[in-house]
Amino acid sequence: MSDIKFTIDGKEYSAKSGQTIVEAAKANGVYIPVLCHFDGMKPAGTCRICTVRVGGRFMAACTTPVSDGMIIENMTPEIEDMRKQIVEMLFVEGNHMCPTCEKSGNCELQALGYRYRMMVPRFPYLWPERTVIADTPKLYIDRNRCVQCLRCVRDIVTADGKHVFAVTNRGGKTIITIDTELAATLSEEMAQKAMNQCPVGCILRKEVGYRVPIGQRKFDNKPIGSEIEG
Ligand code: SF4
Ligand code: SF4
Ligand code: FES
Repeated sequence: MSDIKFTIDGKEYSAKSGQTIVEAAKANGVYIPVLCHFDGMKPAGTCRICTVRVGGRFMAACTTPVSDGMIIENMTPEIEDMRKQIVEMLFVEGNHMCPTCEKSGNCELQALGYRYRMMVPRFPYLWPERTVIADTPKLYIDRNRCVQCLRCVRDIVTADGKHVFAVTNRGGKTIITIDTELAATLSEEMAQKAMNQCPVGCILRKEVGYRVPIGQRKFDNKPIGSEIEG
């Protein structure tokens, strides 16, 4: 039952009690960009791409519950530029070579780059040294493309509740690790889920590539957010 009234950019909407701002906005056909968030997963609030302004304060819309009378700013030039800066930072903090990436066209970071018309990032490229993990039978982990959203850590769990991915270190040295013994036991379905759950091209299936040709992929013809905005 819709029992909460709130506004986004001056328009009034209704929400169910307990919904986050992202969920309530989506249910009303309003797109708020997300990257670390995934429907059905407990939000982690790591990327801040979903930043909105509520009562003059910037908040992560994926972790903030909507409340009655809330006045939310979403598409102001200031907020949109903040989001664009985050996208630019994510590009310069990793090593992204889209034309050679298997995730191109299915990648949420790339799709956000297009949405925000990113040409040249305003920040200098850091060209970090990142290692890859290739010693698991079904998955290949290219940390050059990791955006540390932690979706894999939160959601890829074996039938007996063991986490396959973990995060180590802090700040700029944070890296994703994988339990190679557990990873070796993953079913084909779980391996595919791990790849799908990664918003970028960091987790890839081995021996499976380009099943869907470039040009026919998720964001090749429909920009990110269009499924919500219509
Ligand atoms: S992960 Fe996305 S942004 Fe990075 S190289 Fe691949 S397609 Fe490009
Ligand atoms: S490997 Fe992918 S899903 Fe995991 S933290 Fe990095 S970007 Fe996110
Ligand atoms: S989508 Fe909200 S913080 Fe990442």
